Amino acid sequence: MFKNFFQKAPNNIVVDTTDLDMNNIPQHIAIIMDGNGRWAKAQGKVRTYGHKAGAEVLKTIVRAADKIGVKVLTVYAFSTENWKRPLEEVNFIMDLLCLYLTKEIDEFNANNVQVRFIGTRQGMSEKVLEKMDYALEATKDNTGIILNIAVNYGSQLEIVEAVRKIAAQAAAGEIVAADIDEATIENNLYTAGLPAPDLLIRPGGDVRISNFLLWQIAYAEIYYTKTYWPDFKPEDLVDAIRVFQGRERRFGGLSD
Ligand code: IPE
Ligand code: IPE
Ligand code: MG
Repeated sequence: MFKNFFQKAPNNIVVDTTDLDMNNIPQHIAIIMDGNGRWAKAQGKVRTYGHKAGAEVLKTIVRAADKIGVKVLTVYAFSTENWKRPLEEVNFIMDLLCLYLTKEIDEFNANNVQVRFIGTRQGMSEKVLEKMDYALEATKDNTGIILNIAVNYGSQLEIVEAVRKIAAQAAAGEIVAADIDEATIENNLYTAGLPAPDLLIRPGGDVRISNFLLWQIAYAEIYYTKTYWPDFKPEDLVDAIRVFQGRERRFGGLSD
């Protein structure tokens, strides 16, 4: 089923940035890669066909984001709630991830992409975990864009796990309750060390967060589009950034 899989993403991806203010590029963009199943269904294909197409699109969007100057791209690939789907679909997505991580390593290295993951390892198969660990290790010295892949990720569980870690530190006498602040929580999330997303993009037409980065998007600008993820193009990324640049971020303060 994975015959002829993963053509190389074109190296000469053209991104027209004429409409963008290059001094105000979001440093961290998060994307909920949604709409794969509906995209496939619309063309009379099985849902898994959409996941394959979605994985291809990711390669192009990573390149485009890098060209634009984005420093971190966090993409939602599989949620802790997605286990509710039919086993066949879940297995397909896991196989796809393994293949993606295997086939793309050379491309990541050629393009200086550093791969990271957020999510829980609990419930993941050894095979997938091995591929993830390998990709992490093989790209760890790359200094270009960070591709942060959310796999088996749920934001509520992330917060639960952070609270557990902090409680253990308190029990060990390493921290006292009164010293717990926002930074303590942040430093114990999977995203520790990364800046908060400036822009959250959800393709696929749904207007919800679906348990993604609840803490981290406190002041992110949110952009929705009806375009399904497999149809998402560098132009759509540029559109989202243009809309972002038209917004006024006040962080609770007042306009100048
Ligand atoms: C997103 O596409 C990919 C995953 C959640 C794994 P969907 O599979 O949710 O596609 P739709 O939303 O059903 O169209
Ligand atoms: C969010 O999409 C998760 C991913 C894109 C991986 P879902 O399709 O799972 O979200 P809901 O079920 O529509 O909220
Ligand atoms: Mg969906």
